[in-house]
Amino acid sequence: MNDFDYRNGRLYCEELRVSAIAEKVETPFYLYSMNTLTRHFRAIDDAFSSIPHLTCFSVKANSNVAILKILAGEGAGADVVSGGELFRALKAGVDPKKIVFTGLGKTADEIEYALKEGILMFNVESSQELMLINEIAQKLKVKAPVALRVNPDVEVDTHPGVATGSKESKFGIPLSQAMAEYEVAAKLPGLEPIGVHQHIGSQILDTKPFEASIKKISNLVKSLKLLGIDVRYVDIGGGFGIQYTDEDAPSPKDFANTLIPILTPLECSVIIEAGRMIAGNAGILVTRVLYTKEGGDKKFIVVDAAMNDLLRPSFYQAVHKISPAELNDGAPTEKVDVVGPICESSDFFAIDRELPAVKPGEFLAIFTAGAYGFSMSSNYNSRPRVPEILVSGRKAFVIRRRETYEDLARGEGIPKDL
Ligand code: LLP
Repeated sequence: MNDFDYRNGRLYCEELRVSAIAEKVETPFYLYSMNTLTRHFRAIDDAFSSIPHLTCFSVKANSNVAILKILAGEGAGADVVSGGELFRALKAGVDPKKIVFTGLGKTADEIEYALKEGILMFNVESSQELMLINEIAQKLKVKAPVALRVNPDVEVDTHPGVATGSKESKFGIPLSQAMAEYEVAAKLPGLEPIGVHQHIGSQILDTKPFEASIKKISNLVKSLKLLGIDVRYVDIGGGFGIQYTDEDAPSPKDFANTLIPILTPLECSVIIEAGRMIAGNAGILVTRVLYTKEGGDKKFIVVDAAMNDLLRPSFYQAVHKISPAELNDGAPTEKVDVVGPICESSDFFAIDRELPAVKPGEFLAIFTAGAYGFSMSSNYNSRPRVPEILVSGRKAFVIRRRETYEDLARGEGIPKDL
């Protein structure tokens, strides 16, 4: 459920008409509903309310500081994977004690930054990383709270680019080596092993792989406790799938009800790192039709947004629902490719999609763009990045302005001798 709906054929975001916003801010732009964002966060948080837990928003899904601030206000923590994401989370007011730091290539600078800020836990992905964290913690005269990211080796039915829980994957430490690594960690003076972490992939539409991996993780937690290692946190990662078009996505309660019985006996606090499930359907990308044209057997709708603004269709062949912001009663449908202006054939939003016929100047909404939308955008083809607009009820706020041409060259310099 979300707050983008049609009333008399006109698309609204909460109480505001999308095309009216488009006239004002010009296209393309991202549009977020605050109501959807907070409702989705609460749905996850409430689903786990019967056990001690912390819902950390996965900052990579949507890194805008206003979005992070709203979620922090709801009690969210943050799952970060870089110094930049840590900076954003802290800037937005996320409590450092609610921040977990994952990622298999943390640099010494990033580790030091996070230790100085006093984050809740590092999710460590290799034995060399453990050693480095230990070294830096000792230098700073602190103990680093760590969990090992364990690779449970489960098969997940999702796009191969976002599956992370199989033994071939670059992520985590194999389950078979985890005990030995924990024993080493427990003896190192700069480390305090306090948790176990997993993340098996993204856009997972089935509770079963979670059930299988959490069972494996729970056995590990029990063994660690027997060994005297005081595991207080089980971080189950994120990856909860959502509806883009007609997928049958489990609800937060479905995921929670499957996992809570396995997690409860562990007597640990559970960390949930949700990104897409919170932000995905809280945002759309609004674009304008520039031209329509025909070529061969194809009809093309050329829009002013492109793959640099929303990469998912080109990168993962992801299917996002697209619909005009104003529906014309009785407009015939036609099979079209919706394409952007970038000089790449992979710059498309839809291929052979049946859509109502549209004319230049009309606005199209590309749905489910609130997660991995703006955060994966770039300046390719020297296209300024688009604004982000947040709607709450009848109010709209610019939470990121459109970039200018000057922004594009900022930081670049022409050497004097050239
Ligand atoms: N925790 C870790 C360690 C992760 O690597 C991720 C996502 C998450 C949590 C959040 O996953 P979520 O709940 O959002 O599924 N760019 C891709 C998705 C990549 C996900 C990477 N890791 C896409 O557009 O589909």
